[in-house]
Amino acid sequence: MHCLFKLPFLHQVSCNFKFCKCHYRNKNNECNKAFKHFLPFISIFIIYFNICQSHALDLPDPLNKNDFHYSDPKKAKLGSLLFYDKILSGNQNISCGTCHHHDFGGSDGLSLGIGEGGQGVGPKRNAGIGTNKIKKRVPRNASALWNLGAKEIHTLLHDGSISISDIYGNQFNTPAQEWLPPNLENILAVQALFPMTKQFEMAGNFGENEIIGLSHRKIDTAWPAITNRIKSNQTYVELFKYAYDDINDFRDIKISHVVNSIAAFIISEWASYDTPFDDYLKGNHAALTSNQVNGMNLFYGKANCSSCHSGSLFTDQKFYSIALPQFGPGRTRLFDPYTRDVGRMAESDDLNDMYKFKTPSLRNITLTAPYGHNGAYPTLKGIIKHHLDPKNMLKKWTPDKANLTPAEWLEEIDFVVFQDKRERKRLLSRIDIKSLKLNEEEIDNIIDFLHSLTDKDGNNRPLGRPHTVPSGLPVD
Ligand code: HEC
Ligand code: HEC
Repeated sequence: MHCLFKLPFLHQVSCNFKFCKCHYRNKNNECNKAFKHFLPFISIFIIYFNICQSHALDLPDPLNKNDFHYSDPKKAKLGSLLFYDKILSGNQNISCGTCHHHDFGGSDGLSLGIGEGGQGVGPKRNAGIGTNKIKKRVPRNASALWNLGAKEIHTLLHDGSISISDIYGNQFNTPAQEWLPPNLENILAVQALFPMTKQFEMAGNFGENEIIGLSHRKIDTAWPAITNRIKSNQTYVELFKYAYDDINDFRDIKISHVVNSIAAFIISEWASYDTPFDDYLKGNHAALTSNQVNGMNLFYGKANCSSCHSGSLFTDQKFYSIALPQFGPGRTRLFDPYTRDVGRMAESDDLNDMYKFKTPSLRNITLTAPYGHNGAYPTLKGIIKHHLDPKNMLKKWTPDKANLTPAEWLEEIDFVVFQDKRERKRLLSRIDIKSLKLNEEEIDNIIDFLHSLTDKDGNNRPLGRPHTVPSGLPVD
């Protein structure tokens, strides 16, 4: 849109070179010669101005309500209860909200999360006691859920393992392949199916409950078992009847209704576009401080951040390696049981995708520390400096930067991969970002600019966390 501003200038330039008729005539209708002498100088000035403008003005459109999928308020309200209800987890001890909590900007404040078995929320969550002790950390940082309901989102998760695609004939490329249930309204409904079936997130360990067994045997048999729990809860049955025209009694409730409700909640709850930067884009130039404007010019100019963090959502939804330090249990694969995380490559099986992760959005980034796919940096300064000089920052990184829940039985493996020199060499051989020198003031200005992407109501969402849920289970 901003490019449109350039059109009048270009018109002026072409006129100055007499590509169009003379605009400056005297009373006798003769062209004003004196004025004409200045035309070349004016033209040069205007061309220069245009070049400067085209750099400074390559800004995205502001984000607004129409950029999002529709979210039905009745479904969203029901979704908020399901999102925080532990009834959806195998051992009824964890909800989506435990890891995507309102108090932590839709994430959990930890580098690597603690799945079922742990207790509490955020950095105070423990790793469980006695037989409930967790067996493994969640290998990646819990993503915040900001603006995932935007229509342009086509790829989810750090490695993009859920995306819109027709490869299985059901609109989505997911780990369930062709076994996805029908009538899923959008990619968020699809994603909501999977944490429920994952051992270390919500399903629990083998032998502990029926959900994990079913998930392992044939994934699409776990979802009806979860739905049965909802069907036998009278409060839920009434709420589903109220929210859906095609539900007349408990027998009509399907897993698609459950996840479509959760998706409706995520769409409206985490839609966020009331920021100083959006005000600026709408023409209120006083919305940003002069430091933020400096930061913006760097972001869209010399620092080249916008080449990947592009568009209104600040992500191109593509994959790059910036060589963040590795730690934690990793995402082991059947034929690669090492504690590393090869990112996109595990999904694409293409060696060129090694260690690549999806460009994250930067909206509300001030609310969602720590940063990176494994939460390697506690501060914005840290992660930005890493982008500027991955090799040296990797060398300087120390394990105390990771915010990991104490669990002495897991600590032995937490930094094995970080200390492995050969693995580090492999990681460093795959960097997709150009090193760049910025001084401290420039980095601070960029951070100031990132602050302008924080919603004025970031911590005050439309529905918030419910105090009670229909199952009667405690709400985290
Ligand atoms: C144990 C913690 C945990 C629980 C419980 C959990 N999640 Fe997540 N969630 C994560 C982690 C970690 C990621 C990133 C995983 C990855 O990219 O591989 C994530 C990613 C997501 C994403 C994708 C975000 C993006 O930007 O691509 C969505 C959507 C999501 N979760 C929704 C849910 C819903 C809905 C539930 C409940 C049904 C849920 N999560 C339960 C930890 C959790
Ligand atoms: C080559 C593409 C690319 C460029 C250029 C780039 N980034 Fe990133 N950025 C990424 C990727 C990919 C990640 C996630 C890496 C990971 O998790 O391993 C990321 C992560 C981040 C994060 C952490 C976000 C989160 O949710 O954890 C911030 C903040 C960030 N970038 C800011 C910047 C800034 C500021 C610049 C300009 C100085 C910049 N980026 C330039 C690709 C890029």
